[in-house]
Amino acid sequence: MATLRLGDTAPDFEQDSSVGRIKFYEFVGNKWCVLFSHPADFTPVCTTELGYTAKLLNEFHERDVEVIALSVDSAESHNQWIKDIESTQHTEVRYPILADVDRKVSTLYDMIHPNAIATLTVRSVFIIDPNKKVRLILTYPASTGRNFDEILRVIDSLQLTDKHSVATPANWEDGDDVIIVPSLKDESVIRQKFPKGYKEVLPYFRVTPQPKT
Ligand code: BEZ
Repeated sequence: MATLRLGDTAPDFEQDSSVGRIKFYEFVGNKWCVLFSHPADFTPVCTTELGYTAKLLNEFHERDVEVIALSVDSAESHNQWIKDIESTQHTEVRYPILADVDRKVSTLYDMIHPNAIATLTVRSVFIIDPNKKVRLILTYPASTGRNFDEILRVIDSLQLTDKHSVATPANWEDGDDVIIVPSLKDESVIRQKFPKGYKEVLPYFRVTPQPKT
């Protein structure tokens, strides 16, 4: 399997998990999905990551996003570890953790980087849209916990920019001004699409209030 790239179709799979057998496409249905791997159960950084994501789960669901975690540990191990996550991070883990013991999914999604960690998954994140297209790929080292607020921010940007002819600037947050895509040049179309008006910073750089989602 060649390395996945943005715009590729996310491969379907069937795998065990902390909540039983999961058929990926069936589980996600026509929603968005965040699929993320962590190196191993019973490790501290992973404990904080999975706990923080559990606390954000309603935020993901409000955006129509399913969350699925993965490591190469067993479902039994996941369920033992979930008790530690819940007691130390003061939350409830209400999303599945794939038990990728045979490394089927990690291989499909290229989550094992042998020159970084020989046999375990690194910290990968995939955002997959309702058409099953890969829209974001992140890879973090084992020693650095990820910023899951950033994952939500990217989802907000993707969902906004899919609907309107805009892009989002550096460090954009929901509600901030956005950028009109440079390919949109027709003045009358711009006025119709962006009735709140726009400011021309440079001929190729036009800023407008965020359209309603
Ligand atoms: C951790 O989650 O704490 C961790 C996992 C693998 C290597 C280093 C840290």
